Amino acid sequence: MWPDRRILDLLGLELPILQAPMAGPVESEMVIAVSEAGGMGGLPCALMTPEKARTELGIIRQRTSRPINVNFFCHRQPEDDPAREAAWKKRLEPFYVELGLDPSAPTPRSARAPFDEEFCGIVEEFRPEVVSFHFGLPDAALLDRVKAAGAKVLASATTADEAAWLEQHGCDAIIAQGAEAGGHRGIFLTDDVANQPGTFALVPQVVDAVRLPVIAAGGIADARGIVAAFALGASAVQIGTAYLFCPEAKVAPPHRQALRAAKDDHTALTNVFTGRPARGIVNRIMREVGPISDIAPAFPLAGGALAPLRAASEPKGSGDFMSLWSGQAARLGREMPAGELTRALAAEALALFPKLAG
Ligand SMILES: Cc1cc2nc3c(=O)[nH]c(=O)nc-3n(C[C@H](O)[C@H](O)[C@H](O)COP(=O)(O)O)c2cc1C
Repeated sequence: MWPDRRILDLLGLELPILQAPMAGPVESEMVIAVSEAGGMGGLPCALMTPEKARTELGIIRQRTSRPINVNFFCHRQPEDDPAREAAWKKRLEPFYVELGLDPSAPTPRSARAPFDEEFCGIVEEFRPEVVSFHFGLPDAALLDRVKAAGAKVLASATTADEAAWLEQHGCDAIIAQGAEAGGHRGIFLTDDVANQPGTFALVPQVVDAVRLPVIAAGGIADARGIVAAFALGASAVQIGTAYLFCPEAKVAPPHRQALRAAKDDHTALTNVFTGRPARGIVNRIMREVGPISDIAPAFPLAGGALAPLRAASEPKGSGDFMSLWSGQAARLGREMPAGELTRALAAEALALFPKLAG
């Protein structure tokens, strides 16, 4: 019934809908719900300790035998740059003073961890059917171990060149992440974020550039987006922002409120929260310090100095100093459980294909 079965067959899915692994909001509950519905649940590990990842995977494997995706960032940890970090702290000092915080207190370190030996051991232990990477791929030795553990490997490409690179380096399918997407850009061959193509332009050019099946991501939140992605040559979609409206999503109240009010022009790309460009709903810190800052420390270090600001303001209901990650299509989101959403999106897309064919 689906016009292209390549991803369904490759990943052993009933429905060509991948729930985007979203570090922070997604834990085992959502992964189980989406995989049980016939889509692919994705567990993000970028903000988890190895112990937490193990616990979540243990719960998932107990509650579903369907295929799952486990996701990692694979950035290189940057060198410390005390001068840059001091300049960043200085830039944030007025906010510290306003919130009654001591700017000279030591800055916490950001927790985002890249894929490494220890996480690779967890992949070998739990043998997820799919492992996906953001920001390129890990070293060949680690990638070989992931494949030897039986996982199909996916990774995000933000340009056709990145897609070709991923194909040459051993990926089994490409996630074409258009500029509309919420969260971090997966960009890894350049850092020229101003040139990033949108989903409509990117997907067919990636389809032409590689032989692998392509999963479209970015701004897809309803049946129209799914059908359009297939028309552009995609074999499946990866959906993030629309799943943030599900009760299973661990979204802080100010973030949920901002998502409910979001319109198509409420988001921007910013590096102020982590040092890498990511799309979120524009808030005070993005407006006053960014959205792109030349002095933000390298990923993920920029986040450290923001943590005390968030900790002091979020309990009062303020979203001024926290990342409000969202793609451009939040307005299309619907508040329903993740399993129901997966089935509804698939049924609505299947109903739309024949209508468009006349
Ligand atoms: C809150 C949030 C967190 C995200 N975290 C991750 C992550 O940990 N790993 C990853 O590969 N992609 C992450 N992404 C990007 C998604 O994989 C995907 O590219 C994006 O959500 C698709 O666009 P959409 O949000 O418009 O559906 C995140 C996106 C959001 C909105």
